[in-house]
Amino acid sequence: MSTKDKVLLELENNKDKFISGSALAKKLNVSRNAIWKAIKSLESSGCIIDAVTNKGYRLLKASDKISAEAIKSLLTTSYMGREIEILQKIDSTNNYAKEIAKSNAIKQGYTIISETQTAGKGRMGRSFESPPDTGIYMSIILRPNFSIELTQLLTSCVAVAVADAVDRLYNTDTKIKWVNDLFLNSKKYCGILTEASISFESGQLEYAIIGIGINAKSIKNSLSPEVLEIATSIEDECDKTVTRNTLIAEILNSLEKYIENIESKNFMNEYRKCSFIIGETVIVTSNGESKKALAVDIDDNAGLVVRYENGTTETLNSGEARIIKS
Ligand code: BTN
Repeated sequence: MSTKDKVLLELENNKDKFISGSALAKKLNVSRNAIWKAIKSLESSGCIIDAVTNKGYRLLKASDKISAEAIKSLLTTSYMGREIEILQKIDSTNNYAKEIAKSNAIKQGYTIISETQTAGKGRMGRSFESPPDTGIYMSIILRPNFSIELTQLLTSCVAVAVADAVDRLYNTDTKIKWVNDLFLNSKKYCGILTEASISFESGQLEYAIIGIGINAKSIKNSLSPEVLEIATSIEDECDKTVTRNTLIAEILNSLEKYIENIESKNFMNEYRKCSFIIGETVIVTSNGESKKALAVDIDDNAGLVVRYENGTTETLNSGEARIIKS
């Protein structure tokens, strides 16, 4: 890691506080002149730094470059995100993760983050727009030893973990739309795509890929008008700015905490509290068929319990539900 990156990390980790040039030099074991050069270089790459005589340096605006070192410095996890690969461009981080997960050398928690995706994938064969600089597109490889039945709950568990991290950092009030979309003020800011591979021989789960796509920074100038009708970003909905490194680290911390406790299914209480579908009239699409129904509940297996107009009830474990005015 260069002195420039180390200085940025120190400034980011001491947000709102001044650190003197000599304190930085001592901590990083370099000369004060090297610190001065690093500060100048950070300024020329877009960071805004307050420099005050006898006080030192304070970061006013970070350049928001995604950095594995910066993320790792904020982790409290034992395995999640302990190995991180940052890419500038890839078709889909989920596709890449599936490719490398075949090798046993890739450990549980291995995380791939790309600045942009050329063929980002959403659920149900949809695409996921992934412009650079504003988003987080990441895939995490898991080698869980829990049952295949619990794998079905992984997406919902991830949705709660991401919502929790975002709401703590930004003081927001995320809502979850069954199954896996995160919303702020009735617009989607995050989608989750979980993919798994099961061994034919053992019937055991070989790996699961958690794919998370988040619009973090303002997307007003980077997404198409059609997408902006239904999509938003976190920073377009609140007045707080958080670096993408901080957000990624907080999500990884939260994911490990929630996934470690997935068997208790306790997260489903939080899921239901955040859900805005219960009690609404919806059009459910499952197995290619669409029907009007009332969303009655979400059960502990993340199944959507619906009541159709003819009075019959059904629990849906996959598909989609669109809220309509009744
Ligand atoms: C959805 O909204 O239906 C799910 C979107 C999931 C997008 C993420 S971005 C990182 C990972 N790579 C992909 O190609 N998709 C997921």
